[in-house]
Amino acid sequence: MKKQVFKVVRWVVILAAISFLVIQFFGPAKTNPPIDPSQTIEARLQVPPQVAAIFDRSCNDCHSNKTRWPWYSNVAPVSWFVIGHVNEGRSNQNLSEWGRYDPDRQAKKLQQMCEEVKDGAMPLSSYTPLHPGSKLSAADLKTLCDWTSAERARISTQ
Ligand code: HEC
Repeated sequence: MKKQVFKVVRWVVILAAISFLVIQFFGPAKTNPPIDPSQTIEARLQVPPQVAAIFDRSCNDCHSNKTRWPWYSNVAPVSWFVIGHVNEGRSNQNLSEWGRYDPDRQAKKLQQMCEEVKDGAMPLSSYTPLHPGSKLSAADLKTLCDWTSAERARISTQ
């Protein structure tokens, strides 16, 4: 009886190990598309250093083309989850490709930035525990929202 249980367990472990190896060859690709410096949010808007620091610390990994990929983004199935979030984040708003958005969309996106952060929806809750310092403080929130409303007002009069 004991011997049979051992056999089953051994097969389960072998199959799990094989599946783990096989899935490494599948899934979405990790990319950092080239950045045109004339298209970035810094080139298009007036981004003060303290706002740039918030983007860098809390947003750029998913909303820019300068993602710092963590080691676990190389290991399926975790990589599928991480790469999926980055692709989705970039397609929602990409700070490296800000120049693609017309002024109305830029204003809308600025407003959404403040709203998402205020709601606690961004940065994603799956991100903050593994990225110490990425969670925004009340002061960061104020810095970001003051800036998004000032920039919205400024670009609407251009
Ligand atoms: C771990 C990846 C990740 C990080 C970090 C992150 N985001 Fe996102 N963001 C996403 C994903 C995925 C979506 C699209 C799905 C969703 O809305 O939840 C998104 C959507 C958004 C949207 C669009 C929401 C809408 O209604 O369409 C805004 C605005 C946004 N993020 C702002 C930010 C800001 C500002 C930061 C930094 C403070 C940030 N995000 C950090 C992944 C991320």
